[in-house]
Amino acid sequence: MSKIYITTAIPYVNGAPHIGHALDYLLADVYARYQTARGNTVRFQAGTDEHGNKIYKKAEELGIPVQSYVDENSAKFREFIQKLGVEPTDFIRTTDETHEHRCQAIWQKLKDHIYLDSYEGWYCEGCERFVTDKEYEENSGTCPDHNKPYQKLKEENYYLRIADFKPQIEKAIKENALQILPEFRAKEVLQLLKDTPDVSISRPTSQLQWGIKVPGDDSQVMYVWIDALSNYITILGYPDQDISDYWPATAQFVGKDILRFHAIIWPAMLLALGLPLPKTIVSHGFVLADGQKMSKSIGNVVDPLEVLADKGLAAFRYFFLRHADTFADSDFTWEKYHAAYNNELANDLGNLVQRLANLCKKQDLSGLTNFQPAADPKYDALMSDFCFTKAFDYVWEKVAALNKEIDDKKPWELAKLPEKHDELISILEKFATDLLQTAHLLAPFLPEVATAITDIFTGASDTNSKIVPPATPLFPKDR
Ligand code: MSP
Repeated sequence: MSKIYITTAIPYVNGAPHIGHALDYLLADVYARYQTARGNTVRFQAGTDEHGNKIYKKAEELGIPVQSYVDENSAKFREFIQKLGVEPTDFIRTTDETHEHRCQAIWQKLKDHIYLDSYEGWYCEGCERFVTDKEYEENSGTCPDHNKPYQKLKEENYYLRIADFKPQIEKAIKENALQILPEFRAKEVLQLLKDTPDVSISRPTSQLQWGIKVPGDDSQVMYVWIDALSNYITILGYPDQDISDYWPATAQFVGKDILRFHAIIWPAMLLALGLPLPKTIVSHGFVLADGQKMSKSIGNVVDPLEVLADKGLAAFRYFFLRHADTFADSDFTWEKYHAAYNNELANDLGNLVQRLANLCKKQDLSGLTNFQPAADPKYDALMSDFCFTKAFDYVWEKVAALNKEIDDKKPWELAKLPEKHDELISILEKFATDLLQTAHLLAPFLPEVATAITDIFTGASDTNSKIVPPATPLFPKDR
């Protein structure tokens, strides 16, 4: 039995949760459920990133005190996570007093690698980072992610000497001691690392008020990324407590846009603190809307709450875990969503459960109370390698194979022949066992569905311990 620590990116609270945020949570949740089912002890962090100018300005614009604004939005994220059926063990807010104190202590510990310097350059407020002249030129002066012109900033800032750690970070990535997934992203990071200058890790209070004060210098506030990245260890108690039970993290889930912070600045901070690097950083792709980046100005932002309300949680988890490739960009359209729900969830799986339970009920079959799931090496390899979409496809192959086997063996025909009764019972038991095994593999993805199937075929859903079909279909097509 091991101790597993899983983290998710903490979203900015300058708006309500959007569909992209769901990916971090769902992927981390699948891994957490898988590891828990294997008997490991899992700590699973989620939280909200609440400092920085973007948030401060938004609250000002709305005329709301910034603390009330972040309180309100952080609560929305908490609620959203719950609605996704995701159950983190820890929820951190960067405005928590404990986090703020621990962050200041971290700063003190980083001191040998920090220096004060003045800098003039291009800055993107959306990304909350300086960009190089090369990037400025490549993007013709406008941030492609935020569609906003870069600003010229001249500031006196504290810097973290990334240069001190470049060779170690490079070695860790190359040797897979710090595994970055997918692999092609590791190559990108190695390239980026070469060009990464020392990073500015503070802002003058004249530029930024909503942040954690730099210890010993009232004129500076910590750069939001230093504050935010620290969350992964302050939540474990660092530096007040020994965190070696759960650090290094087993897996950190982030979107591709913020991999550079997690694969360069974060390792530099950890090395400066004398802490080990995380074992794996999983970088997922973006969810697009009808092939385009979602943006308020285009007006194509898909509201995750609307999607959840449309066909329920199982459909949501099904679509984003099976049809949003773990490592690549994916596309959401209502047509694709409804097709996946109707043809796959309701038809392939929902009908399978219904018809097999009906066949068993007709024969008055008892639930398979002694069912024990079997190990499945192929599935385990995919899950351990974070290839969740592939693992889900594999589970669906089992669903398809079982449907086919039932069609081929035609148990309803056997039921007409009394002399075939024993054969009929034994194939129905085999089908029920196969379905229970499939439900076991399905559990990290669709936990509630897996429980419902297990209850039906082990007899737990019936007072007489018999297999009975659910009173209403698992996935009514017209919901
Ligand atoms: N606050 C930082 C993260 C700090 S972690 C120490 C941040 N916040 S964010 O709200 O912009 O993004 C939060 C997460 O959502 C990131 O992992 C980001 O990649 C992800 N996504 C934001 N938009 C997305 C899509 N359209 N699709 C998929 N994920 C996306 O960055």
